[in-house]
Amino acid sequence: MITETVLPSERGIKRAAEIIKRGDVVAFPTETVYGLGANALDEAAVKKIFEAKGRPADNPLIVHISSLDMMKTVAADIPAEAYKLAERFWAGPLTMVLKKSSSVPSVTSGGLDTVGIRFPSHPAAKRLIELSGVPIAAPSANLSGSPSPTTFKRVYEDMNGRVPMIINGGSCEFGVESTVISLDNGCARILRPGAVTKEMLEQVIKNVTVDPGVLSELPEGAKVRSPGMKYKHYAPKARVIIVAGSLEAYREYVRKHAKERDFCLLFDKSERVPGIHYITYGSTAEEQAHRLFEALRNLDAKGADTVYARCPDTSGMGLAVYNRILRSAGFNIVEAENEE
Ligand code: TXA
Ligand code: MG
Repeated sequence: MITETVLPSERGIKRAAEIIKRGDVVAFPTETVYGLGANALDEAAVKKIFEAKGRPADNPLIVHISSLDMMKTVAADIPAEAYKLAERFWAGPLTMVLKKSSSVPSVTSGGLDTVGIRFPSHPAAKRLIELSGVPIAAPSANLSGSPSPTTFKRVYEDMNGRVPMIINGGSCEFGVESTVISLDNGCARILRPGAVTKEMLEQVIKNVTVDPGVLSELPEGAKVRSPGMKYKHYAPKARVIIVAGSLEAYREYVRKHAKERDFCLLFDKSERVPGIHYITYGSTAEEQAHRLFEALRNLDAKGADTVYARCPDTSGMGLAVYNRILRSAGFNIVEAENEE
């Protein structure tokens, strides 16, 4: 398949919308990460997304909308809290899991009777949905199991030859995927943390909890509220180990264990361990979110064997960073202690 690239001009987006309308797949930028989109209501089109990504069929897709009217066509029994959250956080990086309407085919929802709905703020994403005239189902535009693409270059690497068109929108603002929540009895449960933080949700909804699957590996046979939780996500080829503890303890641990082809994944270069390769991805949670996936892909490009990652702070947007790095480490976290 020949993959065409267009810029996010009105003309470029119009051509992309034609492809969506004819039942095909387009990769497009959003404010979080790039998405791989098709008409959410067209079963055959949605199947093409799963094929292009190599994604397991039981992992549901998020349906992207460009108006509240569109939400009413894909969701049913919408609770009052959903409207309150929409008012405060849409357009933006929040996905709400609601009961699905009968117009959403079960391939889109991975066989569930719910559907994740998101109203993106990126102008090209919004315009693509508007011009297509249909809700667009879109997972992140990476090959299944790879870190989500946050730049055009990475989408092209993964999707060239697999989809007919990519919209080149440069690099994405937030860099981690949207916050995913479910709503039960007026309470919000965070299934995947993102740029709309727990603290922000608490300004609108009294009771906000973090699902246990966000912070730890679910025991075998546990009830999974979001199918994405059970897959080893965001995995680079390198083995990632999170080393928690003080900077001194981190350094001591790395000095003891690191070999020739190993790397440190640091916030800032002031943390480096002399003689050991390193890359940095920023000192604030926002910067870390923006750069994490690119850092993981760079570590692979450099041929890193084992990566010793500093442990991010979990407040605010840090929870999203911690969740992604924990998954890329396959939940491998060690507590380093200072030697007496
Ligand atoms: O920021 C984003 O959300 C990006 C951009 C493209 O919008 N999309 C994205 O999609 O990250 P994806 O498919 O890579 O991740 C969707 C996550 C998965 O973990 C999936 O299991 C969960 O959302 N999800 C989707 N629908 C769900 C549902 N009905 N119930 C529970 N979890 C759901
Ligand atoms: Mg994904």
